[in-house]
Amino acid sequence: MAHLIERPRRNRRTDAIRRMVRETLITPADFVAPLFVIDGTNTNIPIKSMPGCSRLTIDLLVAECKELAALGVPGVAIFPALDDSKKDRRGTESLNPNGLFQRSIAAIKESVPELMIFSDVALDPYSSDGHDGIVDDHGNIVNDETLEVLAQMAVAQARAGADFVAPSDMMDGRIGAIRTALDAEGFTNVGIMSYAVKYASGFYGPFRDALDSAPRFGDKKTYQMDPANSREALREVRLDVAEGADMVMVKPALAYLDVIRRVREAVDVPVTAYQVSGEYAMVKAAAQNDWIDGQRCMLEILTAIKRAGADVIFTYFAKEAARLLNA
Ligand code: PBG
Repeated sequence: MAHLIERPRRNRRTDAIRRMVRETLITPADFVAPLFVIDGTNTNIPIKSMPGCSRLTIDLLVAECKELAALGVPGVAIFPALDDSKKDRRGTESLNPNGLFQRSIAAIKESVPELMIFSDVALDPYSSDGHDGIVDDHGNIVNDETLEVLAQMAVAQARAGADFVAPSDMMDGRIGAIRTALDAEGFTNVGIMSYAVKYASGFYGPFRDALDSAPRFGDKKTYQMDPANSREALREVRLDVAEGADMVMVKPALAYLDVIRRVREAVDVPVTAYQVSGEYAMVKAAAQNDWIDGQRCMLEILTAIKRAGADVIFTYFAKEAARLLNA
């Protein structure tokens, strides 16, 4: 018999031992559930490319939020799907205090006050150009003019009851501009969850289907990051933390686990990772074909994202994973 001093398998021998030495635990408290809201009542429009996800009217959205809170999920991230008739070049509808988005925030806050609302700050759901910033007559996404709109949008969302505003636009200087505007209006307790490290990714496809928000021309490469870069991610997070970000995000998650780890080591604010629509769709599609065990792969990926260093995970699996973890 071989004389081995070290036998790592001894610590894997039984389920009890494995549970005892497990290094990474995921719980429902790690998740934020992204949700899509539409105008109307009692309507649920499934999103084809995201099996299990739907666009919901406010009444159904509130019911979904109650369910999530009861499962121990502490937060939701809301995105509005608007008719083209509500879109214009400056995203004016985003500032409407009685607009769909502001009404949905208020409705959730009223019915499920303990649930943390992360409200998305960016122009794309409201923009007839489908870009996250204002587009000039030459097709350029103009930075500084966009900051003013983003700051006003953040204030409108704070006024409606958002707990964290979540700028996902990748304009330079927006965290500082938003912090200044929120404080000037007395919203010193409203946090900023910055989409600090957001890549120009192919994995956003199903989300853009859900909101009908794909860019009407060009792409987002002049503001979202090049997937090849990770040093640049550190520059982005340091800037955002210096400007007042309370949390920073890396997005997408699975293809960027190395970036999550580097960001975790570079800053001491909580790090969020967004497992985006395409990542969700890949698992669902393969599972529907019986090519993988969907639930098992879901938990494996969520664990990997946390192991990489994420404190919070935005995931369309929030409800399904929370149910499984609570069982
Ligand atoms: C845009 C925004 C996007 C997502 C969240 N906010 C898409 C984009 O940048 O085009 C994508 C999320 C997902 O794919 O799940 N402000």
